[in-house]
Amino acid sequence: MGSSMVMIVISTMLAVMPCTCYAITNNNYRQQQLYPVVLVPGAGGNQLEARLTKEYKATSWLCNKFYPLKKDEGGWFRLWFEVGVLLAPLTECFAERMTLYYHEELDDYRNAPGVETRVSKFGSTESLLYLDPSLKKITAYMEPLVKSLQMLGYIDSQSLFGAPYDFRYGLASEGHPCEVGSTYLQNLKQLIENASNLNGGKPIILISHSLGGLYALQLLNRNPPEWRQQYVKHFIALSAPWGGTVDEMLTFASGNALGVPLVNPLLVRDEQRSSESNLWLMPRRNQFPSTTPLVITPDSSYSSFDISRFLEDIGFEEGVHPYETRILPLVEKLVAPGVPVTCIVGNGVPTAETLYYGEKGFDEQPEILYGDGDGTVNMVSLLALEDEWRDEENQKLKVIKLAGISHMDILKDDSALEHIIDVLSAINSGISTSSFVSHL
Ligand SMILES: *[C@@H]1O[C@H](CO)[C@@H](O)[C@H](O)[C@H]1NC(C)=O
Repeated sequence: MGSSMVMIVISTMLAVMPCTCYAITNNNYRQQQLYPVVLVPGAGGNQLEARLTKEYKATSWLCNKFYPLKKDEGGWFRLWFEVGVLLAPLTECFAERMTLYYHEELDDYRNAPGVETRVSKFGSTESLLYLDPSLKKITAYMEPLVKSLQMLGYIDSQSLFGAPYDFRYGLASEGHPCEVGSTYLQNLKQLIENASNLNGGKPIILISHSLGGLYALQLLNRNPPEWRQQYVKHFIALSAPWGGTVDEMLTFASGNALGVPLVNPLLVRDEQRSSESNLWLMPRRNQFPSTTPLVITPDSSYSSFDISRFLEDIGFEEGVHPYETRILPLVEKLVAPGVPVTCIVGNGVPTAETLYYGEKGFDEQPEILYGDGDGTVNMVSLLALEDEWRDEENQKLKVIKLAGISHMDILKDDSALEHIIDVLSAINSGISTSSFVSHL
């Protein structure tokens, strides 16, 4: 026995050691070891550009004169996000340019007349780092996460990719046209294939934040199982609102000032109501039972089963038809994709659970009863997959809860980033981090 065994051990060490040293000193080599990562941001999580055509008619002289102040040669300017729009008169101009319109004859959504929009740098992480690059500190979005990924050896556009999109648009159930959202899914699919090809055919790791998780799950399930097997190693969903949020009902009823005290929420309410993706995030029946009122007024109450009546009563009848035909069938089932999934979510942050409106109606901000969640998304929604996939024998799912981490902090907080990097490193080193749902 003795010496030959020792020889084997030594020769194995010799074979391994130069590689290890090389890996530490040479990024290219390390890169080859990594599964490429594709980042799918949440709503509002990437820059959006716009330009105005002759068809555009501003409702006020001020909008034409003072906004936007800067355009490039092609007439493009940053629509989302630009801090100037927080000033009241400009907020209205901004909102009218951001507004979507549902066209009944097309059964689809379109921009406001005369407003063209685009995302820039598709494939790169560039437009996800900061929402307003002139104010990096206060508008940082995925920058801290991207930095952590770079420390692992990831390099933008080589092993790390970003998939920005026009987050105002959503997806619709089968059989309904959905030009912008479906085009995005095609581009995302192409990006994933390109990312894999660039990295020796390795499958990619999808990392999404918030709404991006809903898009990513749709992408997986709208492609054949063989495609998923070949191209997607793992799906890490951060703070995904699988079952919608009560907060979204607040946005539809009274507007959401995005946490900026200067902004009057009623100025952005119509624009927020018009967003197809916002409608996608209404509380879902599977998580919010019919017996639980989510909104209570002096005359009535509304559960997740009463969303249509709620939309009518707040004065947004236009939303009822698209909600019933495009959204309800889309969210009926969360299909298990077979690809291993890890959900990382915050908990223990007060989150709107019941909204109480007084005599003055929906223009007045409600009293809010808070429950568990990440400050934006309710706990039942963050944990929906555990419940929904309980009996899925071939679905690996792991849910990691981070106490006190809010919906946005998950992308910034040091301990949250460490958890994300741990999960990613484990996948890269071949350690299985997921147990089967049935074993949880
Ligand atoms: C994928 O690669 C092809 C060929 O290089 C390129 O034409 C295409 O633009 C890329 N698409 C995406 C979405 O990265």
